[in-house]
Amino acid sequence: MTLGTDSHDQGVPDLTGDPYEYFAKMRKANPVWRGTLMESDLMPAELKTDENWTLFDFESVFTAFREDTVFASEMYNQTIGLMFGPTILGMHGKQHHDHRSLVSKAFRQSALNAWEPEVIDPICDRLVDEIKNDGHADLVKAVTFEFPTRVTAALLGLPEEDLEMFRRLSFDLISIMDDIEAGFSASVELGTYFQDQVDQRRRTMTNDVIGDLVAAEIDGEKLTDEAIISFLRLLLPAGLETTYRSSGNLLYLLLTHPEQLAAVQQNRALIPAAIEEGIRYETPLVLVARNTTRDVEMHGVTIPKGAAITLCMGAANRDEKRWDDPETFDIHRQRRAHISFAGGIHSCLGMHLARVETKAMLNSLFDRVTDLELVPDDSTKIVGMPFRSPEKLPVTFRPLQDA
Ligand code: HEM
Repeated sequence: MTLGTDSHDQGVPDLTGDPYEYFAKMRKANPVWRGTLMESDLMPAELKTDENWTLFDFESVFTAFREDTVFASEMYNQTIGLMFGPTILGMHGKQHHDHRSLVSKAFRQSALNAWEPEVIDPICDRLVDEIKNDGHADLVKAVTFEFPTRVTAALLGLPEEDLEMFRRLSFDLISIMDDIEAGFSASVELGTYFQDQVDQRRRTMTNDVIGDLVAAEIDGEKLTDEAIISFLRLLLPAGLETTYRSSGNLLYLLLTHPEQLAAVQQNRALIPAAIEEGIRYETPLVLVARNTTRDVEMHGVTIPKGAAITLCMGAANRDEKRWDDPETFDIHRQRRAHISFAGGIHSCLGMHLARVETKAMLNSLFDRVTDLELVPDDSTKIVGMPFRSPEKLPVTFRPLQDA
């Protein structure tokens, strides 16, 4: 839905390659810009407007996330909602609060503490075991897409024999911009499949995320089947795709900065800093949308009520007012919170899970292989808009004998 390739009339270059020079220019000259990076021919007619605005600097993007009654997200109901059903992303106020409280129960800290050693670490270890003696691999195919897929399937409590189907449907659903028909058909198939999983748990409860969603209750209120199934579908782009892309970005950045890769390998205490810097420097989801519910002033510019807003988190994450030398990838930099997990009421529900998964992936790799080296060709680079990541990561390595 969102691409910079269609907007040449507004001087927007192709942003699928390296968008950061353009972002830097806009952040300085036009942090609150009347124009869009969204591809309008993919927008439903009722959402099209002449008032399109984009926010590029950290302060504006941060403020927009916080002021959720002014920068509303209900238009998601007419975009991704058409495919996923009504989701938490398009809700606001009490409805959002109640719904988020219910689904949060399935992602509570105590569950995460148990998942890390029991589910996530073993999945990542097994994946790297599968390739460690090969001497070479495409880490995107072998690891970065596969580990969040297997983790998501395991946390949901899906049977092992369904993994292959789940992998295929997940891939088709998140590739919907490349193949709309396959994406829609995957969405329908997943809906039927998830309904069956919910029905099974209504008969016999299980200890997994779908079971928790079925059981969750606040003041006697439970989630409807429709709400559970929409939420489960949303987890694929929101949880699986973002994690697969951000972990690919981090591996690419470490492999192309060998001294920083060596530092993290030698001192695992640096892993959290490396994860945050990777997500700041190469924001996996660069743009999100909002609509204004009243006139609002930012940086002395008035954005009218009813405007379609793009929040450019990718540009905000390299704001020189917030970070020294923001265009450099540096895991040792003084840490300040980035905005890749959004902010305010819609801030990412799965950010802790994403961090735990990415840490597990790095630990499994570092425990099992050494001399990791990228063997790139011209197409080994981070690309895409609004999601960005490398399409492949061809590497060579040696197995660590004692692993
Ligand atoms: C590095 C990985 C991730 C990134 C960069 C990311 C980013 C984001 C962003 C930017 C939003 C806000 C979208 C908006 O307001 O328009 C969001 C919301 C959300 N994320 Fe994540 N996410 C990641 C991982 C995950 C994971 C692993 C899960 C799985 C539980 C997840 C579940 C959600 C949900 C359910 C929401 C909606 C929250 C709400 O509307 O209240 N995310 N995420």
